[in-house]
Amino acid sequence: MTEVAKLELDGKTYEFPVIEGSEGEKAIDIRKLRGTTGYITLDNGYMNTGSCQSGITFLNGEEGILRYRGYPIEQLAEKSNFMEVTYLLNFGELPTAQQLSDFNEEVGHYASLPGGICNMLSHMPPAAHPMGVVSSVTSSLCAFYPEYLKMPLPPEMRRKAVCQLMAQVKIIAANFYRRTVEEKTHRSNPKLGFAADFLNMMFASESYKVDPEVASALDTLLILHADHEQNCSTSAVRLIGSSEANIFATVAGGIDALWGQLHGGANQKVLEMLEQIQNAGGTAKQFIEKAKDKNDSFRLMGFGHRVYKNFDPRATIIKKACDTILKKLDVHDPLLDIALELEEAARSDSYFVERNLYPNVDFYSGLIYKALGIPTNFFTVMFVLGRLPGWLGQWKEMREDDTLKISRPRQIYTGPNTRDYVAVNKR
Ligand code: SDX
Repeated sequence: MTEVAKLELDGKTYEFPVIEGSEGEKAIDIRKLRGTTGYITLDNGYMNTGSCQSGITFLNGEEGILRYRGYPIEQLAEKSNFMEVTYLLNFGELPTAQQLSDFNEEVGHYASLPGGICNMLSHMPPAAHPMGVVSSVTSSLCAFYPEYLKMPLPPEMRRKAVCQLMAQVKIIAANFYRRTVEEKTHRSNPKLGFAADFLNMMFASESYKVDPEVASALDTLLILHADHEQNCSTSAVRLIGSSEANIFATVAGGIDALWGQLHGGANQKVLEMLEQIQNAGGTAKQFIEKAKDKNDSFRLMGFGHRVYKNFDPRATIIKKACDTILKKLDVHDPLLDIALELEEAARSDSYFVERNLYPNVDFYSGLIYKALGIPTNFFTVMFVLGRLPGWLGQWKEMREDDTLKISRPRQIYTGPNTRDYVAVNKR
C-alpha cells in the first residue's frame, strides 16, 4: 500500500504519494500539486526539494556517508583509480579489465585539440583566470564538432561525449597553464594514466619526471571530487542539459557554477585565507572570532556544508593525504599548521559546533595542489577535472530518463499589480 501525505487546503484534503529511495530516504511526490490544488511550493536554495531521482551517488549528511553507485568513497579512494571511477559513474558498474582498457583507449583517441582551439588558448591573456578560459574554450569545442549539435544524442554519441570531454578538458587546462608560464605546450600521452599525463603536460621539462606517488595522490584527489549528487554545479548541468543544449555548453555551465567561492571556488579562497592569516600574523582564534562576527564579511572558507552536518568524509581522507604527500615531498608548509590550528579552534567553539560546521572537501585540498606546484588560481580547475565524470554521468542519466522534462521552476510574483502605461518619455 503506497504511503501518502495528506494536505489540508481551503477546507479540502489532498493526498500525495510518498516515494522511498533505495536507502530509505522519503519524498512527497508533488508533481500533481499545482494541477490539483493550484498551489506551488516555495523553497529558496532548494534546501528541501529533490530535483530528480538518481542511482549514481548517495550522501548521508548526518552520518558523513558518501558512496558512488553503492561503493563507499573510502574504499574507492584506497583501491580504485580515477578512470575506473569515471567508468563506474557513467556506466553504472565497475569495468572489467577489458572494459577499462577499451574505455581508456577510447579516451586516448582524443590526445589533442583542434588547431583552432590551440589558437584560442595561445591568444588568451596569460593573466586571465583559468576558470574563465577553461569554461569558454570548452564551450567553443562545439564549433569544431558540429555533430554534437544534433540533439537528442544517440547512445553511442553520449559515450563518445564522455570519452572526448574526459580527454580534452584536461588538455585545455594543461595547455593554458603552459601559456601562463610561457612554455611550449606538451602533448598528451594517455598511456601514462590520467593524473600522470596531466602532471606531465603541466610540468614537462628536461629535468621533470612524474613521481608515481605524486600521480597516485592526485588520482585519489580526483576520485574524491568525482561526484556529489545534486550540488550546485551538477544541478546547473542537469538544468542546462534538460533544454537539449549541446554537451559542451552544458559542461561549460557546470564549470561556471563551480567557479563560485561558495562552491568549488572555495579551494582557492581557503589558500588565500590561510595566506591572509599568515601575513596578518594573526592567531587562529582571532580569525575564528572574525568568522563568527556577522558584521565582518570574513568567513571560514572550506568550512561548512549544505548537506554534511558531520565530517565531510572526503575532507578526512584529504587531510591524511595532505600530511603524507607533504612529508613525501619534504615540504613543510606553515599554512598547514595554520589550517590545523583553525580546525582545532573551530571544532572547540560553540558557534561552529552548534551549526555543525566541519572542514569540507575544499579545506585541505589546496595545500596538496600547492605542494604539487599548481598555482592557486588553478585550484578550482583541479576541481573541474575531478568533477567532470560526475557531471557527465548525471547528464547522461538525465538524458536517458524517458520521463525527462525541461527544467522550468515556478515562482511567487511579488511585483506591482496591473497598471496602465502612461507615456513619460518620447517614443
Ligand atoms: C562545495 O553541495 C555540495 O555538495 C558542494 C560540494 C561538492 O562536492 O559539490 O561539497 C563542494 O561547494 C563545498 C563547500 C565549499 N564552500 C565553502 O567552503 C564556503 C564557506 N562555506 C559557507 O559559505 C557555507 O557553509 C556553505 C555555502 C558551504 C553552505 O551554506 P548553507 O548551507 O547555505 O549554510 P548557511 O550559509 O545558511 O549557514 C548556516 C549558518 C549561518 O549562521 P546563522 O545564520 O545560523 O547564524 O552557519 C554559518 C552561517 O553564517 N556559516 C558559517 C560558515 N558556513 C556557514 N559561518 C562562518 N564560516 C563559514 N564557513
